[in-house]
Amino acid sequence: MQSTEEGAAAAREAARPLLECRQVEVVYNHVQVAIQGLSIEVPDGSIVAVLGPNGAGKTTLLRAITGFLPAENGEITDGEVRFDGQRISGLPPDEIARRGVCIVPEEESIFRSLPVEDNLRIVPHPGDEASRAGAMARIHELFPVLEERRKQVAGYMSGGERKMLAIARALLLAPRVLLVDELSFGLAPVIVTRLMGILSAINREQGTSIVLVEQNAASALRIAHYAYIIETGRVVFDGTPDMLRGNADVQRFYLGISDEAGIRSYADVKHYRRKRRW
Ligand SMILES: Nc1ncnc2c1ncn2[C@@H]1O[C@H](COP(=O)(O)OP(=O)(O)OP(=O)(O)O)[C@@H](O)[C@H]1O
Ligand SMILES: [Mg+2]
Repeated sequence: MQSTEEGAAAAREAARPLLECRQVEVVYNHVQVAIQGLSIEVPDGSIVAVLGPNGAGKTTLLRAITGFLPAENGEITDGEVRFDGQRISGLPPDEIARRGVCIVPEEESIFRSLPVEDNLRIVPHPGDEASRAGAMARIHELFPVLEERRKQVAGYMSGGERKMLAIARALLLAPRVLLVDELSFGLAPVIVTRLMGILSAINREQGTSIVLVEQNAASALRIAHYAYIIETGRVVFDGTPDMLRGNADVQRFYLGISDEAGIRSYADVKHYRRKRRW
């Protein structure tokens, strides 16, 4: 039989999130505070949405997780990022990716002048040749167009197809957690719905955890298990998609169209309501 202590340790292990940001503060150019005391948890096997308006700090949060802040003259000045029980903040981006934290960035991450197949060939895969072939087969199953158009120059594909290629490139790295920055940006709603469906299948069938950073709250909430709303670098609300959909303020600013002039954020809505009460 397990001792109480072993049982407690096992319980702690099971409850531990796969990815965790604890009280993270990020400063750009030594002076500009972009996020402050920001904490999020990503349980293993889950889809977590991070929502918020322009400039809220969503991309900054992903840079803090993936180690790309120094390239932007930014740094984590407080708190830490932990993955699989270990501190990863401070490690270089390639080491963080090697551990299985991979990103589909906001800006286009493909080589437009190269054919689709070369875009994939140059991505390092952590397993042997057989494992790489398996990963490629899975990618072609998820995105048949990437096999059909493998000889085509990537820049000539549609926005949705280029996004598929970007996701495929991240998948080749065998992520344990896939961070997706603004999947919906610039894409038609029908394409966004399809891509969200594919991410949901990757999560369900492969157990890959996913962090979805989005301004398009409604589409992200359709597949997320949990969501955070961030504004000016802080979490202002978090809960299950049902909790978000059921909250009048979230509903008004993130899911509906506000008819009250001057309301720009969740915090503004709360302020407005307070003012109205007095
Ligand atoms: N490279 C940078 N150097 C200096 N400041 C930056 C840099 N990148 C972002 N910021 C600032 O940090 C804050 C958060 O920006 P960030 O790009 O993380 O927001 P975001 O939520 O991703 O916005 P969007 O929805 O527009 O992509 C903003 O005030 C922004 O001006
Ligand atoms: Mg961004």
